[in-house]
Amino acid sequence: MTKNYPNVSEDYKKAIEKCRRKLRGLIAEKHCAPIMVRLAWHSAGTFDCVTKTGGPFGTMRFTDEQAHEANSGIQIALGLLDPVRVQFPTISFADFHQLAGVVAVEVTGGPEIQFHPGREDKPQPPPEGRLPDATKGCNHLRDVFAKQMGLTDYDIVALSGAHTLGKCHKDRSGFEGAWTSNPLIFDNSYFKELLSGEKEGLIQLVSDKALLDDPTFRSLVEKYAARINVCIKQDEDAFFSDYAKAHLKLSELGFADA
Ligand code: HEM
Repeated sequence: MTKNYPNVSEDYKKAIEKCRRKLRGLIAEKHCAPIMVRLAWHSAGTFDCVTKTGGPFGTMRFTDEQAHEANSGIQIALGLLDPVRVQFPTISFADFHQLAGVVAVEVTGGPEIQFHPGREDKPQPPPEGRLPDATKGCNHLRDVFAKQMGLTDYDIVALSGAHTLGKCHKDRSGFEGAWTSNPLIFDNSYFKELLSGEKEGLIQLVSDKALLDDPTFRSLVEKYAARINVCIKQDEDAFFSDYAKAHLKLSELGFADA
């Protein structure tokens, strides 16, 4: 969809660039990139393309939304962000949370993701229950990502690759373990691990393994894991390029639609 980005003032643009630098420092110092990506994703992933409600519009600032079951642990991200947040009162929560996600991917070695400022904060959180369930398979993923958010199969597989970062925490989601052995590095190891099967100490959720069940999903997993091409670098490039596009779309669901 063509986007019609709002004009923002020069001062706002400057604040965004300064904030970006502060976020780089904070995320590098606290090793908290994974939960920042999760914050940005959980904010945006509530978008419903039929009712045009939810989405990346700063509503995670409300305790109501933080209390949604899927958001368990998200207050940790918000708490870590506070010292930077207070320095940039003019930036919307919506832009701030999405910028944190973009910077987190960048500082862990992932692709650069375009960022367009100008999201406005919505006054109401979305209803609970819009984020995907880790115990469900392909149909559920398409219900949430395609029917609800308006994203594609490519987006589903590429975005799932964000599980190259971070881990599951027993006290948050009830699951435990990282997807890869280098959870603070953004690379294509999530797809490699997925194809090589379950391993002691690493986790694969039902929703991750679902990507192997569907032929369209699976061919993308193989492509991103560099299994169908001898040139590994080229295929990590394919993942990075598709990831950057999908993350940009996610971060702009319902924003600047022409
Ligand atoms: C496909 C459906 C998805 C399901 C069912 C799912 C589920 C989960 C679960 C259960 C956790 C563990 C939370 C915890 O215990 O701390 C998690 C963590 C995470 N998710 Fe997802 N997720 C999905 C898609 C995504 C997407 C699209 C992204 C980003 C684009 C993402 C990024 C992350 C990150 C970075 C973490 C690690 C957080 C940390 O280490 O604190 N996930 N996800």
